[in-house]
Amino acid sequence: MILEVTDIHTYYGTSHVLFGLSLKVKECELVALLGRNGAGKTTTLRSIMGTTPPQSGSIKFQGQEISTYPPYSIARLGIGFIPDNKRIFPDLTVRDNLQIAARNRRDRGGGWTISRVYELFPALKNLEKRTGAHLSGGEQQMLAIGRALMGNPLLLLMDEPTQGLAPLLVRHLGEQVMKLTEEGVAVLLSEQNVAFTSWVSERAYIIDHGAIRHEGPTKDLLENEEIKKRYLLA
Ligand SMILES: Nc1ncnc2c1ncn2[C@@H]1O[C@H](COP(=O)(O)OP(=O)(O)O)[C@@H](O)[C@H]1O
Ligand SMILES: [Mg+2]
Repeated sequence: MILEVTDIHTYYGTSHVLFGLSLKVKECELVALLGRNGAGKTTTLRSIMGTTPPQSGSIKFQGQEISTYPPYSIARLGIGFIPDNKRIFPDLTVRDNLQIAARNRRDRGGGWTISRVYELFPALKNLEKRTGAHLSGGEQQMLAIGRALMGNPLLLLMDEPTQGLAPLLVRHLGEQVMKLTEEGVAVLLSEQNVAFTSWVSERAYIIDHGAIRHEGPTKDLLENEEIKKRYLLA
């Protein structure tokens, strides 16, 4: 296991949001965390990343307890986070956005370079002189993945990457995300998009009201009308 989250409880102030949540991700696996708006997906990713650390429970990354570490230490150990707002620098070019993301990383060998990111996503090379503000939603998402890769992550947390993307771009994104596991990166993907999730992930967790309600092969979960109706459809 690259990531083992066990029985975490997370709060915003006095508001209790995650209730004994547990999940696991294996090396090079793409796992989905599916749930409606407000289910606790972002809070789960923020708990792992240390930006909203859990008050109790355990989070192990490669066997090491990280639940009390600050976010920069967690990033340095090899966890990358692509937040739902993507956090691209609008005034910097694509190339500079990638360059700046390479700062502060720890060299784990087999490292990512700008040219390797361009090889994986050739469209980014054609855009390298364009500033972040002039990218489409799909291009921004690709750049956000490229930026995260420049930190040499072993695990990437992606928060609802298909949100706001047109269907054709969702297809492109799926192809890009599936390439990541082939490159040796594990992915924990939060989503509400059922079609996208069943396409890219083999295993999924269903989250609702701050706890995992179901887990299993994505196809089995999404063929279950009861589960879909209860936890996923509007
Ligand atoms: N900064 C915050 N302060 C207080 N409550 C929050 C904050 N962010 C999220 N919440 C609450 O936590 C719950 C889970 O939210 P969130 O993790 O953002 O869900 P999701 O990402 O699945 O939409 C919701 O009830 C939401 O209102
Ligand atoms: Mg969210």
